[in-house]
Amino acid sequence: MPSAWPCSTYYSDRGPRLARERQLLITGGTVVDQSGSRRADVLVKGDAIAAVEGGRVLRAPAGADVLDASGCVVAPGLVDLHAHLREPGAEEAETIETGSRAAALGGYTAVVAMPNTSPPADSAAVVRQVLQLANGACCEVLPAGTITVGREGRVLAPMAELAALGVKIFSDDGSGVQDAGLMRRAMEYASALGVVIADHCEDASLVGSGVVNEGAISSALGLPGRPAVSEEVMVLRDIALAHVTGARLHLLHLSAATSVAAVRAAKASGVAVSAEVTPHHLALTEDNLAAYSTAFKVNPPLRTFTDMMALRGGLGDGTLDVVATDHAPHPEEAKDTSMCEAAPGMLGLETALAVVFSELNFPLERVLAAMSWVPARIGGIAGQGGPVTPGSPANLCVIDLARRWVVQPGKLASRSRNTPFAGRELLGKVRHTVFAGEPVVVAEEAQR
Ligand code: DOR
Ligand code: ZN
Repeated sequence: MPSAWPCSTYYSDRGPRLARERQLLITGGTVVDQSGSRRADVLVKGDAIAAVEGGRVLRAPAGADVLDASGCVVAPGLVDLHAHLREPGAEEAETIETGSRAAALGGYTAVVAMPNTSPPADSAAVVRQVLQLANGACCEVLPAGTITVGREGRVLAPMAELAALGVKIFSDDGSGVQDAGLMRRAMEYASALGVVIADHCEDASLVGSGVVNEGAISSALGLPGRPAVSEEVMVLRDIALAHVTGARLHLLHLSAATSVAAVRAAKASGVAVSAEVTPHHLALTEDNLAAYSTAFKVNPPLRTFTDMMALRGGLGDGTLDVVATDHAPHPEEAKDTSMCEAAPGMLGLETALAVVFSELNFPLERVLAAMSWVPARIGGIAGQGGPVTPGSPANLCVIDLARRWVVQPGKLASRSRNTPFAGRELLGKVRHTVFAGEPVVVAEEAQR
């Protein structure tokens, strides 16, 4: 049954037909969800959790599949509020199929697909297309809609029409909405519709033609810089706009210490704002660019050690709510060029959990909160993020926290190879992923 996929961990025949019949027993693991941690076996029937029992007491019903979770954590599937799946329009970089496989391998059971596709998701037709492609995917794929038509920052997208199709997150990600008046109106609509504005914070007039963080490294390399203040001014502007409009504002991929301080102050004064940080901004700095590799070019750019430590502090004290990947696949020819020409962005879905777990000394519950149930809540994604209790939808991942592995770009399920973690040894690997009751990822050793 398993595996015609390039990645040998897949069932190739997933579909709702199987989900209805299937029984699945996940044995020997430690269940960790928002209510805490306990040793328990988990029985799945169809697409829902049927029983959770402590101490290996469950027997596999006849015909049930068994997934070995001994020595592992059984957690709600991860939820990514920020991934670029590139379909429609850039299928040479990624498709919803390959991106959702990468997601499943990373432990994700739900991913928000960013709307900077080609054409962008600024119309009902494109949103419907993404929803249709999402049907056969290895995880739940939720299309985000653009804030402005064509992401051009001039005219609002038909937000109500897109919200009626189920779009809950609106973003011009890739660039910020430069016009404050337009952003205010977008937030007023978002507030009325009960949807989230996911904000790419970079002021274009300050960014100019910058390609790396403005500072010592940009000077040393002779490259134009993107200053941290370009992020800070838009963070401050949009916090103020969220305050007057009552909109739910989610700040994407924060990169600078000054932004963390701004969010901390906003939260202290009661503004309804949430914020995310990426694994790469938590684990890498501008120093990684010294070797002049475009694998480390990303927007907003990798910044200083001080910025990185402020982001870690912000995640630790809850100022930053979410770790999101900003998975940004690009084909080799888009990266294999000069720093100024190269496309910004890096892969994230298959390495995110391991990077965070390896690089940060955070309690597992904090990591899972930031990568599963908190993003599920912020995105209003029902049935994701747990809890692991009878009756809940069976969206789960099984994580071997002791497993060391080396990131090999050629072995990634993504269609692109642009990982900045190539060759790096990481600690913690997803062993199995169960989506809507189906084991979409099963560790190779479990198939023998
Ligand atoms: O580096 C980035 N790449 N930042 C973005 O905001 C967009 C993304 C992309 O779509 O490639
Ligand atoms: Zn992005």
